[in-house]
Amino acid sequence: MNILILQGSPRANGNTAWMAEEYKKAAEAAGHQVTLVNVSRKKIAGCLACEYCHNKGNGACIQKDDMQELYPLMADAEVLVLAAPIYYFTLNAQIQAPIQRMYCVNAPAKVRKMVLLMSSYSPNVYDGALAEFRDICNYWQVENMGYVSAKIDEQKTDDTLSKIQALVEKL
Ligand SMILES: Cc1cc2nc3c(=O)[nH]c(=O)nc-3n(C[C@H](O)[C@H](O)[C@H](O)COP(=O)(O)O)c2cc1C
Repeated sequence: MNILILQGSPRANGNTAWMAEEYKKAAEAAGHQVTLVNVSRKKIAGCLACEYCHNKGNGACIQKDDMQELYPLMADAEVLVLAAPIYYFTLNAQIQAPIQRMYCVNAPAKVRKMVLLMSSYSPNVYDGALAEFRDICNYWQVENMGYVSAKIDEQKTDDTLSKIQALVEKL
């Protein structure tokens, strides 16, 4: 399958980056085609709600920032993996921006399955992110394949790696 991983942490060697990389390695080993994008290194603004896309734009966003690189990748992806740290009890802003910029096309055309990878310092801080992820999967009518979370003592561990590999095996 064609898999797109959006990695939202600005910390290049952090836990979220590790989770995304391990998902990529396992998926490639299983024969999937994987593209990993560190969206925190991209300039992707929030949606302007200008409605250009739904009027004159014919589905194209008026903002010519790095989201323009992502639109074709989103259009081709069959599996979308969101990898993000928890900031203030939700997915961080860097991962929210590209999701909300999909407003112009409503939903990624070919995505059938979605996966969520999250890291945090504390336990029990995932309710908001999980509710959002569930609702987006429902809205886009895609399969919610589940999630792996890693709080501080679970980061870069064999146990977390096994959970990531188990999610890949479900593909
Ligand atoms: C701005 C900011 C807000 C954060 N908010 C939370 C939070 O609400 N709950 C929590 O458990 N950790 C919070 N953290 C900690 C990160 O989620 C945690 O360190 C995570 O592992 C970072 O992932 P990374 O290594 O991929 O950058 C926050 C960190 C930052 C920088």
